[in-house]
Amino acid sequence: MFPEIERVLITREQIESRVREMAGDLARDLTGELERDGLGPHDEDRVVLIPIMTGAMIFTADLIRQMPIKLSIGLIAVSSYPGQSVTSKGARLDGELPEELEGRHVVIIDDILDSGRTLSLVRGLIEERRPASVRVVVLLDKAARREVDVKAEYVGFEIPDAFVVGYGLDFDGYYRNHPEIAVLRDDVLPEAK
Ligand code: IMP
Ligand code: MG
Repeated sequence: MFPEIERVLITREQIESRVREMAGDLARDLTGELERDGLGPHDEDRVVLIPIMTGAMIFTADLIRQMPIKLSIGLIAVSSYPGQSVTSKGARLDGELPEELEGRHVVIIDDILDSGRTLSLVRGLIEERRPASVRVVVLLDKAARREVDVKAEYVGFEIPDAFVVGYGLDFDGYYRNHPEIAVLRDDVLPEAK
């Protein structure tokens, strides 16, 4: 346990079993899309996963190793929480989207859906590229904080309005390596929430 952590919200075992279910659901649904295209799960490079860095790194690594279908990965980065901030300052894509999304089945992966700005921006930009389908996958959903209406087809856990870290999620760049989803002590977080 890290000294700045107050309590664990979601344990390693809970994450592991939920991620396994989500990978199963995704692989099944994508296989269904490919079947409708007249393809088998390993026939063509038709599935593109787009993880939003850096928060989705660990979630994505666990998810994809349980998805036995042909897929490629195009990482993107979005800035929204610079430095020690814990509230959204709006979202901006850093760099470019992956090439060649037209006609592909795209899966956007993020660690958490909070205000909705990040995923609304990314989903909108990707839909402009005319993919065959778009799915949004998030490990966590803080529905109480939503400011922008955006749909996530796959949600791991609904959580209350608390700032969480671990399993890829950071505060000020740290605690991503904490293996469980945890809440930081109040005195570590800035006052503005
Ligand atoms: P949104 O644009 O407000 O939905 O925020 C999404 C992004 O903010 C996520 O990709 C996370 O990087 C970050 N974020 C939101 N809530 C938390 C949290 O509780 N802990 C750590 N990062 C968070
Ligand atoms: Mg993020």
